[in-house]
Amino acid sequence: MSAIGLGLDTTFDDTSVAILRGKREILSNLTLSQYKEHEEFGGVVPERASRKHLEVIHHIIAGALKEADLDFSGIDYIAVSNYPGLLGSLLVGLTVAKSLAYTLQCPLIGVNHVEAHPYANVLEHGEMQFPILHLVVAGGHTLLIHARGHFDYKIIGRSVDDAAGECVDKVAKMFGHSMPGGPVVDRAAMEFTGDVYDFPRPMLHKKTHNFSFSGLKTAMLRFKEKSQSTSSSSFDSPERLQEDGPILASFFQSVIDVLIHKTFNAAEAYGLNNISVSGGLAASRKLRLAFEAESARKGVNLFYPPPNLCTDNAAMVTCLAAHRYEAELFDDLTLDAFANLN
Ligand code: KG4
Ligand code: ZN
Repeated sequence: MSAIGLGLDTTFDDTSVAILRGKREILSNLTLSQYKEHEEFGGVVPERASRKHLEVIHHIIAGALKEADLDFSGIDYIAVSNYPGLLGSLLVGLTVAKSLAYTLQCPLIGVNHVEAHPYANVLEHGEMQFPILHLVVAGGHTLLIHARGHFDYKIIGRSVDDAAGECVDKVAKMFGHSMPGGPVVDRAAMEFTGDVYDFPRPMLHKKTHNFSFSGLKTAMLRFKEKSQSTSSSSFDSPERLQEDGPILASFFQSVIDVLIHKTFNAAEAYGLNNISVSGGLAASRKLRLAFEAESARKGVNLFYPPPNLCTDNAAMVTCLAAHRYEAELFDDLTLDAFANLN
C-alpha cells in the first residue's frame, strides 16, 4: 500500500495544502493566493501574510481532506516547507505541521521549498532522469542545480541580486501593472516581438553560472524615466497595449536570453543532457517556447511542469517529502524554520 502524505506550504503569500498517495498521485492540491490581500500595499506585507495563513490554513486542510475523501486517520506522514521564505509565514505552516504530526503520531518531514520546485516534474512526467540540471525560476530565487540523485545536489549558479521573477514583477509594477507581473509580461511577449528595444543582458558573456538581474531592472527604470508615458489607461486598453507591449516584450526577451544562455552553458559545462525548468516564471508560455526551441536545437531532454504546478503549491512539497519518506529521512519536533536558503 502506498503511503499517503499531507503537505503544507506557507513559505510566502500562498497557503497551500496537498494530499499525495505514493509519489505521484495527487488526491488534492488546494492553494489560496493572497495577491488581492497585498495589492493595495504594492507588495507582500509579511505581517499580513502570516495572519492570513493562520486565518485560512485549517479550512484549507479540511477542504483537502474532503476532496481526497479521507480523514486524518488515513494520513501516514506530514510534510512541510520549513525554508526558505518569510519567517512568520513559515512558522504558521511549521507549527500546524508539528501539531498534526504529534497528534497523529506520524512522521514529520521538513522540506526545502526551492528543492521541491523541480519535483513538480515528477508529478507530471514520472521519476526524475538523473543526472539533471534544474533551473528554478521563482519569485524569490533563480537557481541552477546540478542533481545527481534525490537529496544529492549542488547549487552551481544563483542570482547575485534580484531573482528573475522579482525583476519581472518590479518592472511590470514600474509600468503600472498589478501583481503578479509575470502573466502580464508573458502576455505582452506573446503578442509583440521582443526585438524592438535592445535592453541589457546581464552577465551573458561572463564565465560564471551566476545571474544578475538588478542592472536590467535599473536600465528599465532609466528607460521609463526618459520616455514619458502619454497614456494613463489600463493595460487592457488598446493604446496602453500598443505603448507598453513592445517594451515589456523586449525586456522579457532579455530575461529569457540570459536564462537560456546560462542554463545551456551550464548543461554543456557539466555534460548534462537532461534539463528541468520549474518555479512560477516557468508558467510563462514565451519562456517555455524558447526553452523548447533551444532544447530541440541542442538535442537535450527538457522537462517542465503544467502551469499550476510551476507556481507555489504543496503537491511538489509533498512529492519531495514522499521520496524522503521512502528513504526514512524523518525530522522531529525540534524542526526549525529558516528565512534563507543556507
Ligand atoms: O514559484 P512562485 O509562485 O513563487 C516563489 O517561489 O517565489 O513564483 C512567483 C513568480 C512571480 O514572479 C510571478 O510573476 C511569476 O512567478 N509568474 C509567472 C506566471 N505566473 C506566475 N510568470 C510568467 N507567466 C506566468 N503565467
Ligand atoms: Zn516557490
